[in-house]
Amino acid sequence: MTELPPNPLLEGLEGERRAPPCTLVVFGASGDLTARKLLPALERLARRRLLPTAFSVVGVARTEWTDEDFQAVAGEVVKDAAAQPQWTSLIKGFRYVAGEYGDPSTFERLRTVLDDLDRQRGTGGNRVFYLATVPGVFAPVAEALGAHGMARPGPGAFVRVVIEKPFGRDLPSAVALDDCLHQVFNENQLYRIDHYLGKETVQNVLALRFANAIFEPIWNRRYVDHVQITVAEAGGVGHRGGFYETAGALRDIVQNHVMQVLSLTAMEPPVTIDAKGIRDEKVKVLRAVKIFSPEEVSHNVVRGQYERGWVEGEEARAYREEEGIGPDSRTETFVAARLCIDNWRWAGVPFYLRTGKRLPKRVTEVAMQFRSVPHLPFPPGLARGLGPNALVLRIQPDEGITLRFGAKVPGQAFRVRTVSMDFSYGAAFVEESPEAYERLLLDAMAGDPTLFIRTDEVEQAWRICDPILEAWTADDAPLVPYRSGSWGPPAAERLLEREGRAWRNP
Ligand code: BG6
Repeated sequence: MTELPPNPLLEGLEGERRAPPCTLVVFGASGDLTARKLLPALERLARRRLLPTAFSVVGVARTEWTDEDFQAVAGEVVKDAAAQPQWTSLIKGFRYVAGEYGDPSTFERLRTVLDDLDRQRGTGGNRVFYLATVPGVFAPVAEALGAHGMARPGPGAFVRVVIEKPFGRDLPSAVALDDCLHQVFNENQLYRIDHYLGKETVQNVLALRFANAIFEPIWNRRYVDHVQITVAEAGGVGHRGGFYETAGALRDIVQNHVMQVLSLTAMEPPVTIDAKGIRDEKVKVLRAVKIFSPEEVSHNVVRGQYERGWVEGEEARAYREEEGIGPDSRTETFVAARLCIDNWRWAGVPFYLRTGKRLPKRVTEVAMQFRSVPHLPFPPGLARGLGPNALVLRIQPDEGITLRFGAKVPGQAFRVRTVSMDFSYGAAFVEESPEAYERLLLDAMAGDPTLFIRTDEVEQAWRICDPILEAWTADDAPLVPYRSGSWGPPAAERLLEREGRAWRNP
């Protein structure tokens, strides 16, 4: 079945899209992601009247809940049920199937529920299966869906699968998972999610670059000195220690979220803003990222782990003291890296990336720092406050764009210093931004894969990260501690200092 995806950005201009009649089946329905992200996203879609009446959700999980238990959990998403009649009436149609993922009877019961819903609610055999489980059951669930005849759509209907991250834990496991999924589904049925692509400000990187004539001419090695991508979190691992121990910052954030932001920032202009146009260019630029040799890893990548400290006025414990973490854990909670993109546009421009937990604040941004002017005609003393020009794309939480440039300080002397010009989303638009999951759930139901990751992108991102993971395992590379509430270990500062540069600490 070949689906022709609609064009999301144009749709956004032409009017709101709505979900078609369908059933959303959530595997992992009693888990954290469903309660924290998926149900609230559905509630917002209902509030905006973007869900059809012929719609239902079926939760599947091992927890022994009934339909009513699941409906009660969904009901808790809105504190004041009377304020949200659409949601209250919608969740009456929600169903729950309790069972083991390895037990065929779970899937037999699921199939019966889905067929009943098609008859009762007119969902027309259209299904979106959302795998919000631990990654270990992605493949068995896909196989079971195939074995129970739920993978192929009926005439005129659609069946899609949304797969949460992490997609594999290295290239071989990602390829193995893909092989398994492709035994049952076609690639155009698979929607690999990275919620960063659902963020308005991440999509705005495309708008800024390709809807304006003034930025693209300077978006290259002639004008850009270097690029900094920061994904900082103030929080620690919380209750997710068990999962985090199997991941670490490189797998949890760099392989997916950072690589996606990097590819949108560095890619060539697409011919069209659609699934193929954008994803072809993203994978092309990822292919240009230089793959590290083991020696290059130690020179260009820093890994750290947080120790005790203070974050946002509160005392924070060390990573090794967190719930579910052993006292000798060697899992990294911080990564800084210097990547090179070997193509005509970016040769010689370092891309510095960093992500970490327990940093001073939650902030994600892309900062393009431009080269200095070739000659400064001011006496040095008068230009002391002048820094390089920078364009900062503030992805969260204070969404907007900052341009840093030099200006004359009022007064008799010709003193110059850097000032900021700010654009803020909150001030410029009255429209409320959809949440990332809200946008992506709607896209999956509407059949638009543009903001989902294609198999070749996932694999290329692993090709970039695997040598780092291998070098860390092979030579027992140092894991440097950093104080909670600091911007990471000093080695991360040195990565830039040795080249006469410094991190922007927002
Ligand atoms: C998730 C990671 O993908 O992204 C978490 O697993 C992380 O560890 C989260 O906290 C960050 O997302 P956001 O949207 O809060 O920046």
